[in-house]
Amino acid sequence: MALIGLLLLLLLLAGARLLWGQWKLRNLHLPPLVPGFLHLLQPNLPIYLLSLTQTLGPIYRLRLGLQDVVVLNSKKTIEEALVRKWADFAGRPQIPSYKLVSQHCQDISLGDYSLLWKAHKKLTRSALLLGIRSSVEPWVEQLTQEFCERMRAQAGAPVTIQKEFSFLTCRIICYLTFGDKEDTLVHAIHDCVQDLMKTWDHWSIQILDMVPFLRFFPNPGLWRLKQAVENRDRIVEKQLRRHKESMAAGQWRDMVDCMLQGLRRQRVEEGPGQLFEGHVHMSVVDLFVGGTETTASTLSWAVAFLLHHPEIQQRLQEELDRELGPRASDARIPYKDRARLPLLNATIAEVLRLRPVVPLALPHRATRPSSIFGYDIPEGTVVIPNLQGAHLDETVWEQPHEFRPDRFLAPRANPSALAFGCGARVCLGEPLVRLELFVVLVHLLQAFTLLPPAGALPSLQPHPYCGINLKIQPFQVRLQPRGAEAGAWAGASDQ
Ligand code: HEM
Ligand SMILES: *[C@@H]1O[C@H](CO)[C@@H](O)[C@H](O)[C@H]1NC(C)=O
Repeated sequence: MALIGLLLLLLLLAGARLLWGQWKLRNLHLPPLVPGFLHLLQPNLPIYLLSLTQTLGPIYRLRLGLQDVVVLNSKKTIEEALVRKWADFAGRPQIPSYKLVSQHCQDISLGDYSLLWKAHKKLTRSALLLGIRSSVEPWVEQLTQEFCERMRAQAGAPVTIQKEFSFLTCRIICYLTFGDKEDTLVHAIHDCVQDLMKTWDHWSIQILDMVPFLRFFPNPGLWRLKQAVENRDRIVEKQLRRHKESMAAGQWRDMVDCMLQGLRRQRVEEGPGQLFEGHVHMSVVDLFVGGTETTASTLSWAVAFLLHHPEIQQRLQEELDRELGPRASDARIPYKDRARLPLLNATIAEVLRLRPVVPLALPHRATRPSSIFGYDIPEGTVVIPNLQGAHLDETVWEQPHEFRPDRFLAPRANPSALAFGCGARVCLGEPLVRLELFVVLVHLLQAFTLLPPAGALPSLQPHPYCGINLKIQPFQVRLQPRGAEAGAWAGASDQ
C-alpha cells in the first residue's frame, strides 16, 4: 500500500517537474528526449542506452528517476565534452549518498570541480606516480609471485579466481598507500570496501539519490551505509595516525607519507584554499574504493575471455616463451619493455574495450552553459558518458561485440578506447592499472594454463543489474601449472 502511494507521489512529482522544466528551457535547442522515466529498471543499462542511438543519434536526453540527464554514446561526443570543453563538464552532481560517503565532498572522485579539487587530485596523482616510478613494480611483481605460489598450491583444483584477484589488488593498494601488506590489515580493508560498495549499491540508497526527500523517512539501508562509512574512517584514521607518529621529514615510505608531506609543502605556498589532512584521508578512500574491485574485475574478465578463446591463450604463451625462454619461471619482462609482448598488450586493450568495468564513468555536471554536437546544454545538466556504448559503436569498430585482440595489431590499428574516461576527470589509477594488468597477466600465463573446470565456461554476460561496476558472474577456473604438464592443450581438449 505504502509502495503504491509512493509510486503515485513519484509520478505526480515527475509530472510537475517535467512541466516546469520544459517551460524553463523552451528557447533552447536541446538534445532529443527519450520518452518514459523507468529506464533505470533496464538490465544492462549501457547496452540499452546504446540501443537508443539507432533512432536518436549519439546524444539524447533521458529521465533517470526525477533527474534529466544527457547521455553521450560515441567517442566523438564524449571527447568533445570531456576533452575539448573539459572545463564546462568537469563538475560532479552533488547527490545525497555522495555527500554521505565523501566527508562533505573533500573527495576526488565525487567532489565537484574547483581549484582546490584540482590541487587535491594533483597531490594524489603525484604521490601515485612517484611510487610507480620508483618502487611499485618490484612490489607488484613480488605480490603477484606470492599469489601464483598460493595458486600453485591448489594443484589444478578449481578456484574462484575473482575473489583471489580481489585480495591481490587490495594487497597491492594496501602496500602502495600504507606500506603494509599484512593479512590482518588487507582483510580488514577488503571486507570494509566490499561492505561499503554493497550498502551503497543497495536499492534503498539508489532510490534516495533519485528522490532525495525520502531521506526524511526511516531507512535501514541508510543506517547501514553510515555504519560502513564510520568503520572505513576508523581504519583510515588509525593508519594516518601511525604514519604521522613515525614519519621522517624528507623521506617517504608510501603514498600516505608522500601526501602528508606534500600537504606541508603546500601550506607554505600561496594556493587555492587549503588542503587538509581530511583530503589525504579521502584520497586513501578513493584509492581503495576505486582501485580494488575495478582492477580485480578486469583481470577476471581477461581470464573469462581467455577461457573462451584458448587459441589466443596459446598464442600469448608462445609470445611469452619466445621472449623469456620456455622454462624460465623467474625471468621477467619489465613493464617499460611491454612492446616486446604486442599480443598481450593488444589483449589487455581488447578486454578494456569490451568490458570497461566502469561502463558509464561517473556522472559529470555542466559547470556553465555549453553545447555538445550542436545541442545546447544548460548549466547544471548531468552528463553521462556511455563509455561501453562508445566501445561498441559499429561506425568505429568492426564487429564490435567480438573478442578480437588482433584488431589492435593491425597496421592501421583501431582508435584507442576510453575505458578510463578522458580529460580533467580521467581515472586517477590508469597508470597503476596498466602496470598491474601487465604484470599479473605475464606471471599468470607464464606459470599456468587456464582451463575451464569440467569444460564449464564462464558467462560473458555481466551481472544484469550491476550498479556502477560491470561485474562478472562468479565462475571458476583450473590453473594447470605449466612446464609440469606434458601437453596441457591435449588435456584441455579431452574435457
Ligand atoms: C581497470 C580498472 C579501472 C577502470 C576501468 C577505471 C575507470 C574509471 C573511470 C571510467 C572513471 C570515471 C571517469 C569520469 O568520470 O569521466 C574513473 C575515475 C576514477 N578512478 Fe578509476 N578505474 C580503474 C581503476 C582505478 C584504480 C586502480 C584507482 C586508484 C588507484 C582508480 C581511481 C579513480 C579515481 C580517484 C577516480 C575519480 C577521478 C576524478 O573524479 O577526477 N581507478 N575510473
Ligand atoms: C598497446 O596497445 C595500444 C592499443 O592498440 C596501443 O595504443 C599502444 O601503443 C600499445 N603499446 C605498446 C607499448 O605497444
